[in-house]
Amino acid sequence: MAEPAWWQRGAIYQIYPRSFADSNGDGVGDLKGITARLDHLAELKVEGIWLSPIFPSPMADFGYDVADYCDVDPVFGTLADLDELIAEAHGRGIKLILDWVPNHSSDQHPWFLESKSSKDNPKRDWYVWRDEPNDWMSVFTACGPAWTLDETTGQHYLHSFMPEQPDLNWDNPEVEAAMHDVIRFWMDRGVDGLRLDAIPRIAKDPLLRDQAGAARAHNEDWDTIHERLRGIRAVVDEYEDRMIVGEVALQDLHRVVAYLQYGNQLHLAHNFVFIDQDWGAEAYATAIDDFERLTEGAAWPAWFLANHDKHRPRSRFDHDGLGAQRARAILVMLYALKGTPFIYQGEELGLPDAQIPPERVVDVDGRDPERAPIPWTPEAPGYGFTTADDAWLPFVDEAGTLNAQTQQADPRSTLNLTKALAALRPQLTGEQELFDAGPGIVAWTRDGTYLVAVNFTDTELPLNATGTLVISSDPRGAVESASLLPSEALILRLAV
Ligand code: GLC
Repeated sequence: MAEPAWWQRGAIYQIYPRSFADSNGDGVGDLKGITARLDHLAELKVEGIWLSPIFPSPMADFGYDVADYCDVDPVFGTLADLDELIAEAHGRGIKLILDWVPNHSSDQHPWFLESKSSKDNPKRDWYVWRDEPNDWMSVFTACGPAWTLDETTGQHYLHSFMPEQPDLNWDNPEVEAAMHDVIRFWMDRGVDGLRLDAIPRIAKDPLLRDQAGAARAHNEDWDTIHERLRGIRAVVDEYEDRMIVGEVALQDLHRVVAYLQYGNQLHLAHNFVFIDQDWGAEAYATAIDDFERLTEGAAWPAWFLANHDKHRPRSRFDHDGLGAQRARAILVMLYALKGTPFIYQGEELGLPDAQIPPERVVDVDGRDPERAPIPWTPEAPGYGFTTADDAWLPFVDEAGTLNAQTQQADPRSTLNLTKALAALRPQLTGEQELFDAGPGIVAWTRDGTYLVAVNFTDTELPLNATGTLVISSDPRGAVESASLLPSEALILRLAV
């Protein structure tokens, strides 16, 4: 078997830079803060870090509204700070992945300012302008229709997200070429990979037909997506050993797999079928199995159950008060499945969502709770995240106990569970086979040597396998490998 690529080996850790670590006391995280905390990531043996956008931005969507694709926003630091972060990460064997936002820019990007200045501006066609809007809606419910009237020229422009995020027109080859140059800019600077934001949206029905009653989506995932992905991949392949992972937020796994399986498009895709399902053994087993069946081994899976857009698993799966246990079981599952685990900052601490009082809400789409700053130490008010009196978002209520420093000292903490999983992962590389452990349990073997079993129920269940317990998600340190505690996940070394 060929040696795995770096992006197949260990976990990739998502950093939401505003909330990771603040070095200059303004209450917002920054690049120097990340550099100062790299040892935390090295101890977690992460293979790479993915930074949510750090580019100059008016921050209407906290960086996903990009005003300059080739620079760093002063709130995060400078290009020199990024160079330093890349060098320091590389020095620890950690790769760096940036967020590339190709579907839309900020309404303050010079391209859009030109485009909206007049109907005959050479950049008019870099965005999508129409006299009459169609029926498309913004992804963000609060934003309503996906079109906004520009008073100056009397036309409407398309925005799949906020009005401050006008969609670029990928049917215009000049736009495609300009965005390819952005990729080269970052690859030349030593960036190892890109996360492709909202990638299905760069291919829309060029006739902009209405969505109502249509049998397929007209506002994303149009047939042109594949030639556009091949174009992007060709640019990335001008460089050695780089990787692209797509935010393929589609609910049809056939379509997700089509972005991956030909070897000339994405390396990895975030699987939204997996993250968007309810907690239950059958759904998870099916999603795991379906990926293998549909790809027939021609694509490498990636697994994630948390990011900056989704409520944290500990809160999301807490309907019966077992959220904390599930957050730990999820870590076992992510590290032990065949594929690349994506871990969202704070997931290794088992953080829940933060409570956001109405007067502190800043996001248009209800995503503040999962974006709370990381508590590094037990000391209020800044918890080692900031020296300011307050951070841009409130901390989780449990920051005094769930902070990294306190967890470091507790052998049973979620942080130490994650470290143990990362240390074990190099041994979990063998063939994966689903194992029938009965209703309520999802189980699989690796190489016939390890058995991984996850109890999706809230009751203790017998386990029809014996072996030596290697890791349990249960903080009490369950040793009875013949049964699974409620919402426990464990890894056994099978008796041969
Ligand atoms: C992606 C990002 C999300 C952002 C949106 C628009 O879904 O993950 O945070 O708001 O794209 O760029």
